[in-house]
Amino acid sequence: MAQLWGGRFTKETDQMVYDFNASIKFDRRLYRQDIEGSMAHVKMLARQGILTEKERDLILRGLLDILQDVEDGSLEITAEYEDIHSFVEANLIKRIGDTGKKLHTGRSRNDQVALDMRLYIRDEIRHTDRLLYDLLKVLLRIMEENLDTFMPGFTHLQKAQPVTLAHHIGAYFEMFKRDRLRMADILERMNYCPLGAGALAGTTYPLDRGYTSDLLGFYGPTQNSMDSVSDRDYVIEYLAALSTVMMHLSRFSEEIIIWNSNEYHFVELDDAYSTGSSIMPQKKNPDIAELVRGKTGRVYGALMSLLTTMKGLPLAYNKDMQEDKEVVFDAIDTVASCLALFTGMVDTMKFNREAMEASAKNGFTNATDVADYLVNHGVPFRDAHSISGRLVLKCIERDIALDDLTLEDFRSESTVFEEDIYEAISMKTCVEKRLTLGAPGRAAMEKVLEAGRKYMEDAEVL
Ligand code: ARG
Repeated sequence: MAQLWGGRFTKETDQMVYDFNASIKFDRRLYRQDIEGSMAHVKMLARQGILTEKERDLILRGLLDILQDVEDGSLEITAEYEDIHSFVEANLIKRIGDTGKKLHTGRSRNDQVALDMRLYIRDEIRHTDRLLYDLLKVLLRIMEENLDTFMPGFTHLQKAQPVTLAHHIGAYFEMFKRDRLRMADILERMNYCPLGAGALAGTTYPLDRGYTSDLLGFYGPTQNSMDSVSDRDYVIEYLAALSTVMMHLSRFSEEIIIWNSNEYHFVELDDAYSTGSSIMPQKKNPDIAELVRGKTGRVYGALMSLLTTMKGLPLAYNKDMQEDKEVVFDAIDTVASCLALFTGMVDTMKFNREAMEASAKNGFTNATDVADYLVNHGVPFRDAHSISGRLVLKCIERDIALDDLTLEDFRSESTVFEEDIYEAISMKTCVEKRLTLGAPGRAAMEKVLEAGRKYMEDAEVL
């Protein structure tokens, strides 16, 4: 047991208590942030005359050595330390002697861990943003290639109106663009430095909080020391944003699972991204999409968990807050692997244009266009709707599409119909006519694609 706080105790900690309390098993992943934060702290202490330059250099050298040794594997972070902070400090003292004991001057583990978490989450927000950007790149490519790949658009999972694959994928392009905005937005709010808040009430040493904040690339120091050590809003916000990313990935996964089913056969997953069955030789299963959909639950769980942990905590620091780590780390790992795998899966997926188009054709997705034709010839929409409905009924009885009706069939419901009805309700016309901004018509989509390309060039990763 290696603890930083044995002084006032007369008895050893019970082993079970020690294990229950220790966080090294999971906060070890903060080693880089912990060392980086300590280095900034030491530079500031020396600048303020609290440490000599010699002491500063000795400590900085020691910290850098520890960082290197951890990174190259020669120094292992073992469970003999209570947490990552104790690990770094104890090893520093082991290496440079008594000077190492000055590192913690004017600091508490409360502001230290608050800083480590902010640095870590800040890196991860940027990483998530990068992964989202990579996914957007793939989606834009698919959109560019599928401006005339017709498919049914659905409402209630019933065929509604024809759209294009470019248009359908474009919906996800918008969702993941918003996810990136959320990342930028959280970063904007959380990028303030809590170091110097001490345990809860600041310190009597003349610290320069602005300087450490600058060294660590924050916008500035936080404004209230109690809030600094007890704020985990940014973790919650990040978990909420990650949950939304997963919700989007999950909806997309659900569609891919449906599209990949034998009945639809809209897509063919690459062999590298699908799995077989141990018993049924014919199977090619969409396991990745299913797992992404499935893992959404655990990311939502992380959000609920931390919200619940925080809800009853009086100011300022409480040990409950140590529970922020495992859930957010798990959520981060989950989302990172889901985004990377999902991007690979979508990038290698083949679209079956024929099946998509055939499906759009046989679902009366042009029934609205029959009605629109009548309206354009002076029939009130409500009447047009019912005429078109009766024609659909005729088709259902005969098991044919609207395009297969004879002109006589059409005229039996309304004499307004002429030969040009066929052209007016062809798949191509149905889509091409939809030209309101954001609609699937080619000219409208081309504007959206132009904006998409510009976005990819301008909206740099965080
Ligand atoms: N392991 C602790 C955490 O994650 C570090 C802060 C400990 N502070 C304390 N007063 N015990 O929250």
